[in-house]
Amino acid sequence: MSVDRNLIARAIRPGELDLHFSLLCQAFDLDPVLARPIYDQDPFFAIDHKRALFDHGQMVAVLTVVPATLQVHLNGTLPVAGIAGVGVPPAFRQRGYASELLKQTLRALPDEFGYAVAALESDNPAFYRRCGFEHCSTNYEWRAAPQDLPDHPAASRVTQLEPGGQALESLRIQCLHRTLSQAIDTTFVRDERRWQVIETLASGRLVAVYRNETDAITSYVAYQQDSAAEGFGWTITEMFASDDIGRHALIGYLARQTNIPFVRCRMSRTTFHEFGLSQIDGIKLNLVDGVMMRLLDLQTALEQLAARPGFLQTLRGTTGGFTICLDDDQGSKRPKRLRLFVIDDARDEPRTVIAPADEIEGDCLSGDVGALTQLLLGYAPASVLRQTDRLHPTTADAISIANQLFTPTDLFLPLPDRF
Ligand SMILES: CC(C)(COP(=O)(O)OP(=O)(O)OC[C@H]1O[C@@H](n2cnc3c(N)ncnc32)[C@H](O)[C@@H]1OP(=O)(O)O)[C@@H](O)C(=O)NCCC(=O)NCCS
Repeated sequence: MSVDRNLIARAIRPGELDLHFSLLCQAFDLDPVLARPIYDQDPFFAIDHKRALFDHGQMVAVLTVVPATLQVHLNGTLPVAGIAGVGVPPAFRQRGYASELLKQTLRALPDEFGYAVAALESDNPAFYRRCGFEHCSTNYEWRAAPQDLPDHPAASRVTQLEPGGQALESLRIQCLHRTLSQAIDTTFVRDERRWQVIETLASGRLVAVYRNETDAITSYVAYQQDSAAEGFGWTITEMFASDDIGRHALIGYLARQTNIPFVRCRMSRTTFHEFGLSQIDGIKLNLVDGVMMRLLDLQTALEQLAARPGFLQTLRGTTGGFTICLDDDQGSKRPKRLRLFVIDDARDEPRTVIAPADEIEGDCLSGDVGALTQLLLGYAPASVLRQTDRLHPTTADAISIANQLFTPTDLFLPLPDRF
């Protein structure tokens, strides 16, 4: 980086909104007339979440932080900073501006807003990996011709909602989504603002619902029409079913769409298996890297993960606790060496304590931010990260303790929840 630069990243001020928008349009080659209403009406709009980098006072790079919440192991909640719209106008590229904006923003986020992790979707993982992001999920991306899917009599109870019907059934669908999501171990929580984006701003969303014998909606599929080489088919944005009959009904409904050349969808491994898709010969399956995440605040992340049943029990089995050391030069000033232990006296309920540690005692695990992000979010177990030399234990037991503390998850960021 050349020495004559003076790079400051911060939230923009009201007078800088038009410039922020203009840089975004230049970077993504957007038509300002079409993009402006989306920028202005974004239900997540908050000026302190619109960030920019200034070189000697001139705005040169922009990004937007979108608040999200990750439910972890059913009972913890991690505040997530979704990173969107990272953009630099063509004339300013390849000077390190985007990287600098990202680094300074990530460093500031835990103190300014309490975010514990950052997340994004990108087709340029190498760029984000340099800022500490790592893939934390695998998407099951499949495609099939409708006639290759199995029909089912229950498909007759699936109907596509007209736009008016979508509005009418909106609360029922939201409620069903909430109930079914609450049973998913680790998943993004959908709030009112996200529903507003999905239902009013996303164009071309179609919804078909399955009604059971009592006429209650117990399953639904949302999709949009998309073109591909074979013509117009359906891209399914999400499928939710509360039981097997609902799952058969939705797949049967897709099987009946013989007038379109394909249906395609991205889902989690768990959902793929639950819908019985692994049993169907005609399905073409691709495993693709999903959401990238980055730890921002180790302590907050551990506090939420420690709410998982079994965490305290594992920790209790250690001699004097377990220490985690995060190697993260680019990160926030939050504590990076933490000791986890159990306080268990007769007067109170036993509880997990997570506190900054001056020294390494007993079982300890250290790793870079990418490795610890993947470990804590359940993407890769400690033993696998150790095999590739990305985690460093001080004792033979440290890896097996970490394997028990941080259990596998099947994290998935569905299309409607993208930042
Ligand atoms: C992607 C994008 C934001 C990158 O912006 P940028 O400011 O050029 O990014 P950086 O300069 O920080 O890094 C880009 C490259 O320049 C290199 N670089 C960093 N500092 C540099 C410097 N001082 N001089 C020359 N090159 C430098 C980086 O190593 C990086 O290498 P890579 O090409 O192998 O990735 C920009 O190209 C863009 O706006 N693209 C369109 C929108 C988009 O796709 N956004 C991302 C999806 S949300």
